[in-house]
Amino acid sequence: MKILLLGKNGQVGWELQRSLAPLGEVIALDSRSQEFCGDLNNLKELALTVRRIAPDIIVNAAAHTAVDKAESEPSLARTVNALAPALLAQEAKRCNAWLIHYSTDYVFDGSGDKPWLETDATGPLNVYGATKLEGEEFIHQSGCKHLIFRTSWVYAARGRNFAKTMLRLAQERDSLSIINDQIGAPTGADLLADITAHAIRAAQLKPELCGLYNLVAAGETSWHGYASFVIDFAQKNGVSMWITPEDVHPVPTSAFPTPAKRPLNSRLDTTKLQQAFGLHVPDWQTGVTRMLTEILDKS
Ligand SMILES: NC(=O)c1ccc[n+]([C@@H]2O[C@H](COP(=O)([O-])OP(=O)(O)OC[C@H]3O[C@@H](n4cnc5c(N)ncnc54)[C@H](OP(=O)(O)O)[C@@H]3O)[C@@H](O)[C@H]2O)c1
Repeated sequence: MKILLLGKNGQVGWELQRSLAPLGEVIALDSRSQEFCGDLNNLKELALTVRRIAPDIIVNAAAHTAVDKAESEPSLARTVNALAPALLAQEAKRCNAWLIHYSTDYVFDGSGDKPWLETDATGPLNVYGATKLEGEEFIHQSGCKHLIFRTSWVYAARGRNFAKTMLRLAQERDSLSIINDQIGAPTGADLLADITAHAIRAAQLKPELCGLYNLVAAGETSWHGYASFVIDFAQKNGVSMWITPEDVHPVPTSAFPTPAKRPLNSRLDTTKLQQAFGLHVPDWQTGVTRMLTEILDKS
């Protein structure tokens, strides 16, 4: 089986290189790849890449994920997040391949306090969310076999992440102000990649699993709760810091104005995913603890 992976060096792409390896031959590309074009801003060459590789499965982990920057470069964000997935879907349909794609809780307007269902009405607040939603819609309309996973608050041990920033700031400052009115579930790129591999196996046996699924860790917290958890864990594990969890002060989103408006309610209901694929999603603390253990072991 041939798997074309796009966005191989992103948080999720990196973990997918590992989790997809046992499923078949993985041809992993990024925007700078030479032999094949993996640039989602170069639609013509991207189509040629799919035709030359003729994959059984296309996994698209590439996206314009710079949420604030997308406000000032909407055309690029739309090409990468909507037009490129549309093209991948057309090519997948043409060669009867599966398309696996990721989307976001930012397709919603963040109202209310209930976890969003896949069937709830969307209403993106920013360019990133709007372009990701358009990408989803193009994939649905193409009629290709697909799995779309909506996720939120993704982190990975590799590269920069919110937890690492909190650990650094806790060693530099004597107090922190962190947003406490955006609620979601920090979700590990490793969990996303592992569930993707399971889901691909299941969908190949049961094509009727084709569709849209929420995929996040269980439970919920705010950025403030997340930061307090990280600092508490580090303190209990002997990291010397200026601050304690009590020095992490909750503030509303309005305290940090940003070019892109963020949804307050980022909760996603994963019942459909768990039932369809017979899977269990662990709580967010399990994955964050594992990531922190890896980071602190290395430092
Ligand atoms: N991160 C989150 O919190 C979050 C939340 C909800 C949903 N998601 C979704 O989850 C998926 C994976 O996100 P992630 O967290 O792994 O993001 P990430 O770490 O920012 O990775 C995105 C990757 O896309 C690549 N990319 C950007 N423009 C490209 C282009 N023109 N051509 C090819 N590659 C391009 C980037 O490569 P370069 O760096 O080389 O440009 C990067 O490797 C995305 O669909 C994202 O929308 C993420």
